[in-house]
Amino acid sequence: MKKLRDVKNGELYYNGYNLTELAKRYGTPLKITFLDVITEHITSLKKEFNDAINKTGYQGKFYYLNANKANYSKEEIETSFIAGDGLETSSYYDLLLTLKMFDKHPSFKNKLIVSNGLKLNDYLDEIIKAHLDGFNIIDIIDDLNEYEYLKNKNLPIKVGFRVHLSSLYESEVPDDRFGLREDEINYILEDIKNTNLVLTTIHYHQRGFDYEEDKFKENLLKAFNYYLKSKKLYDTVNNFDIGGGMPLPISEDFDYSSFINATLNYLKDLCIKNNVEMPNLIGENGKFSQKDSTVNIYKVVGVKNTGLYPWHIINGSLLIALPEMFALGEPILVTPINNLNKDMVKVRLAGITCDCDDVLFDREKGYFEMPDSNDNYLGLIGTGSYQNSMNGKGGVHHCLLPEERDIVISNDKITVRNELQSIDDIYRLIHFE
Ligand SMILES: Cc1ncc(COP(=O)(O)O)c(C=O)c1O
Repeated sequence: MKKLRDVKNGELYYNGYNLTELAKRYGTPLKITFLDVITEHITSLKKEFNDAINKTGYQGKFYYLNANKANYSKEEIETSFIAGDGLETSSYYDLLLTLKMFDKHPSFKNKLIVSNGLKLNDYLDEIIKAHLDGFNIIDIIDDLNEYEYLKNKNLPIKVGFRVHLSSLYESEVPDDRFGLREDEINYILEDIKNTNLVLTTIHYHQRGFDYEEDKFKENLLKAFNYYLKSKKLYDTVNNFDIGGGMPLPISEDFDYSSFINATLNYLKDLCIKNNVEMPNLIGENGKFSQKDSTVNIYKVVGVKNTGLYPWHIINGSLLIALPEMFALGEPILVTPINNLNKDMVKVRLAGITCDCDDVLFDREKGYFEMPDSNDNYLGLIGTGSYQNSMNGKGGVHHCLLPEERDIVISNDKITVRNELQSIDDIYRLIHFE
């Protein structure tokens, strides 16, 4: 995986770009999305899988899907769609967007659509329509009502099921609400032969970031046992969909090659031992596709002393920019981007909203380190996934703070996607023109 961060002359470079120079050229607050990082991540992960498939003699293929839910901006989804093998949807509206993307790229009609989530009739009807229109779509069944609805259509729709896993990771909600229980899966495995549905895929999903080898294997094995069982009953089962959660440590030192080789060897041995064909692997990657593509930059515009360490106040809001970190505790790299060759001083960071929770520092140490300078810029590195989905885009935010100027960089071309949000944009949204 390409190393994205570098420091030269005390300034942070990201994907080859001097962030301070961009901040000065375009002004702050600024959001920069590097579409090439999306392409690079996807291409290199696919290559790692293909190399490992050759090396281990694994007999299935690897399909890379973009999990749209991580970032609903058109350019980001389109870039992933072009580099990857298909799109994963999680709602009716997400499927409509996906079909629109397929319309825009008719030559990709054979790429895969995998539909997840709880499905009401609008979503299911659209899946059926997509099937009838010849799309390569797999519905992942998440509850028995969905199964009954689909089976009553008497159509050869490709389906899979999501295996319910108990939560192993500390960051997970206890008793994950998704997936089918063992008795429900057994019912489907018994009943589906009397229907026209075609069982192709066994799916599970676990959260990323907090990758721990033992827990990863434990979940993998639980779900894979359903693949082994299903494959013995139905030869049409040929995909094992490992969901998202591809490890993405912000430390940049994760060894993907060893991880993928070990995973393939593990699955290969299980298949050989059980005398079943090796399945294709499907990955539905949200964070892995999108997270690293985006950086936010703010300027420190004020310093205030109320106690132990001075508050360094930025011209934006940490709370608004990092909902994933504040709501879910997801790590996102927050770092000064200039004056890095100066001495560091202990400060605490604050957003410019009126909210006393709009602050950030290491809770154990009690401070955050910034260069000893009155000309500091702050970078939030890796804001490309879930920040938009959780926060909205083009909305009305805390203290009416404007959304950052939004630039997109692709193939060395820089485009301003959205200017800094204006008060008139905000008036329009609140019907106060
Ligand atoms: C079913 C499913 N697949 C894929 C993803 C994407 O996960 P990640 O962003 O960790 O890649 C999610 C995230 O919630 C999910 O629920």
